[in-house]
Amino acid sequence: MPDSPLLQALNGRVPARVPIWMMRQAGRYLPEYRALREKAGDFLSLCYNPDFATEVTLQPIRRFGFDAAILFSDILVVPHALGCDLRFEQGEGPRLSTVTSLADLDGLRSQLDPDKVGRVYEAVAKIRASLPRETALLGFCGAPWTVATYMVAGRGGDEQVPARRAAYRDPVFFAALIDRLVEASATYLIAQFRAGADAVQIFDSWSGVLDPEEFRRWVVSPIRRIVSAVRAEIPGAPIIAFPKGATLSGLTELAFATGVNGIGLDWTADRRNVRAALGARFALQGNLDPLRLIAGGRALDEGIDALMADFRGAAHIFNLGHGIRPETPIAHVEQMLKRVRGF
Ligand code: CP3
Repeated sequence: MPDSPLLQALNGRVPARVPIWMMRQAGRYLPEYRALREKAGDFLSLCYNPDFATEVTLQPIRRFGFDAAILFSDILVVPHALGCDLRFEQGEGPRLSTVTSLADLDGLRSQLDPDKVGRVYEAVAKIRASLPRETALLGFCGAPWTVATYMVAGRGGDEQVPARRAAYRDPVFFAALIDRLVEASATYLIAQFRAGADAVQIFDSWSGVLDPEEFRRWVVSPIRRIVSAVRAEIPGAPIIAFPKGATLSGLTELAFATGVNGIGLDWTADRRNVRAALGARFALQGNLDPLRLIAGGRALDEGIDALMADFRGAAHIFNLGHGIRPETPIAHVEQMLKRVRGF
């Protein structure tokens, strides 16, 4: 796909135009998503039905013409396919059966359940076949640390205290859990590439709660292992890491140690310092506060203009600093696209 500006940026080039996509671009802020979600019954039925997952992935592409589509699924599909029970409570977020000991880990599968992930790979192939050629398709997985935090606690929240405590108290168990997730995640991403993904993003949404030693051990090292396992099968595979909440030194260490192509920045990252620290070797993605998109008006325009100016001449991928929230007005997304495209 030589024409895709997203892949140009991930190959370290200044793209012909700044590519734009949004984390959670398929989701509850869209009436067409809410309608299909109602028809499917619940969120996991959307994820595991390749026709529904394809349709939902394409909705924001049809409406807005983003430069990339992201597979519609969830990072918790991996623990689910390893044998954890998973459900999504309306308005409460995910609930999983917990994994807190080596015995619990032994009770899980060693390989991903093909009945579950096979449907995801089928969706990837269907989506790729339905997308315009110049629209890149992103696959994804959760990073081992973030996924482990949900598996240990059975839910999110409270700065992921249960997983941090488990990592200190029982590092042998915790390392074994991370190892299982490294292997499963690498397998999962390789299969997504083979099914038609053009690039992948590794979401480490909870990397910001770790001290620097733990960040090295549970964020940098597992992602480095995934990147090298994926590249051993898919040479040159373009990979973005999104270490939400990471410090500047954490981001820098992650980028250089793992060799990812791009780094996703949350809205607290000081982008000029990041650009200076990472140089021209990495694509820089994200950083617009999703609340500017809710506010609209001048707050949105000024945020976009400053971001575009700071990343001018860089391998820049426009995105938010985290997922779009359900209460975001669609008109503000249109305003954002118009301004970025017209810059
Ligand atoms: O970005 C995309 O549009 C691709 C699809 C995608 C979803 N979740 C869909 C989803 C991706 C990449 C994710 C990643 C994900 N899931 C992360 C990492 C990124 C981040 O947001 O930090 C995490 C931590 C999860 C776990 C998860 N899934 C939570 C905590 C929740 C509940 C919170 C919420 O927004 O309701 C989900 C549910 C979820 N995943 C929804 C969507 C569209 C909402 C489901 C619905 O009610 O329709």
